[in-house]
Amino acid sequence: MLRRSLLVLAPAALLALPAAPPAGAQERVVNIYSSRHYDTDRELYDGFTRATGIRIRLIEGDADQLIERIRNEGANSPADVLMTVDAARLHRAQAANLLQPVRNAVIEGRIPAHLRDPEGHWFGISKRARVIMFDRQNPPQGLARYEDLADPRFRGQICVRSSSHPYNLSLMGSIIAANGEQAAEAWARGVVANMARPPQGGDTPQFQAIPAGQCRLAIANTYYLARFGASQNPAERAVYERVGVIFPNQADRGAHVNVSGAGVVRTAPNREAAIAFLEYLVSDEAQRLFANGNFEYPVVAGVPPHPALAALGEFREDALNAARYGALSAQSLQIMQRAGWR
Ligand SMILES: [Fe+2]
Repeated sequence: MLRRSLLVLAPAALLALPAAPPAGAQERVVNIYSSRHYDTDRELYDGFTRATGIRIRLIEGDADQLIERIRNEGANSPADVLMTVDAARLHRAQAANLLQPVRNAVIEGRIPAHLRDPEGHWFGISKRARVIMFDRQNPPQGLARYEDLADPRFRGQICVRSSSHPYNLSLMGSIIAANGEQAAEAWARGVVANMARPPQGGDTPQFQAIPAGQCRLAIANTYYLARFGASQNPAERAVYERVGVIFPNQADRGAHVNVSGAGVVRTAPNREAAIAFLEYLVSDEAQRLFANGNFEYPVVAGVPPHPALAALGEFREDALNAARYGALSAQSLQIMQRAGWR
């Protein structure tokens, strides 16, 4: 009697649960170590669990701390996926031998080749351009390339954050790759000579200093400015209106783009779930969340950016592989420090 009712009940229970794990399976889990500093990533995690039934356990922290933590946990690390921003940091995790190569047709088919590690240790899942911002009330003449920022005619005009930050290391890596080490160092010296003030603060304060009259030019990532464009705060929207964007090097290699990325940890206890998570990240749904949540450019073709970002204009991007400039980050730092870029 008992046995018969179980036989009847089991299939009905399964039918009632869409995307349920196979009968008898334990609850599926994936452990994500993330240093992305964006609240809207919560929606991503919820979306993944809805789509797959796999629960997410999230550990958030500073990228270097998470890398150190995975290293210390060793073979017993619960970490399945490392998510972070900037190819320089992804390279750091890879160089520490913490990531495993993944070959996957779905993921590789969705992400352009230059935005992922050629061996599959990590994948770019959203992108941002590092652009030149300027005062629309005092637009610069003859400024179309990163290289122009070193021109003495822009003396005392540039605001930019410190050389140690990965965003600048990656930009510098792209300049080394394009022009060689010597020219890159000369460029860094020229930019330092043109600084309006010693580097201080993150990207946002650089372009906030434009309407404040402290600098005429700033170097910053696109999403920080787009965020102001969609802000409820009128003062932030006024900054967005006042600050113009130059996508550099449109007549040659294109503007430098960087990625948010993720890779499967070498010792991942839930490898299949980790790969399912990466597949989800490149789905249209997740790409829309990146676009609308943090004003990043989707890496997947056909998913539109947020209107406040799209309004900055279309551009040609540098097709240099992110793994290449990521791997140049140590050399970039040496050069920038030699050049006096604090
Ligand atoms: Fe950022």
